[in-house]
Amino acid sequence: MATSELTLIADEIRQCTLCQLHRSRTNAVPGEGPADARIVLIGEGPGYHEDRQGRPFVGPSGQFLTELLVLAQIEREDVFLANVIKCRAPQNRDPTPDEIQTCASTYLFRQIELLNPEIIVTLGRFSMALYLPAAKISHVHGKPHRVGQRLIVPMLHPAAALHQPNNRPLIEADFRQLGAILTQLKNGIPVETNGIEPVEDPPVKQLRLL
Ligand code: URA
Repeated sequence: MATSELTLIADEIRQCTLCQLHRSRTNAVPGEGPADARIVLIGEGPGYHEDRQGRPFVGPSGQFLTELLVLAQIEREDVFLANVIKCRAPQNRDPTPDEIQTCASTYLFRQIELLNPEIIVTLGRFSMALYLPAAKISHVHGKPHRVGQRLIVPMLHPAAALHQPNNRPLIEADFRQLGAILTQLKNGIPVETNGIEPVEDPPVKQLRLL
């Protein structure tokens, strides 16, 4: 059921012309993973390699993400890999607020509703801001936050560690800690969540009101 609806959304994404990014893309990148994934990871947007292949996290950041998932004892095949924006921004510039709002409310949040994951791992500040708009990534990275039924775990973007090797131990420690959180959940041990107030309404509704 969710599988076929996710496929329909992916088809819409591949044909999308809602913003200017469709003009410069090679392929849109809808995201991929099993419909029953407990964990969704949300990156920023496709880079050069993802744009070429139409698949998420297949370039250097993706290779590093695969290593990080090993540290968290997570199988890459078990998670859904998504992005805030589905088309590459020219020269990998930051996505604009309009691009984020259009793309996330039209596609990402529908995907999240269907997947209904227990845990969302945000990668970088743009996906973090969808759930924790007031948070600073340097303060909250690696710390779980409860939003309704879900845990949101904001992480540095893997590219941050590739560009700044100083960040590498930090992001590796955060993914090891994510593994510990998953073990706690599996054993029914409550996970201590962070004090920063997350957005109260599901972001899909909030954005549709704007
Ligand atoms: N970086 C992202 O944020 N997403 C991808 O899919 C690849 C690189």
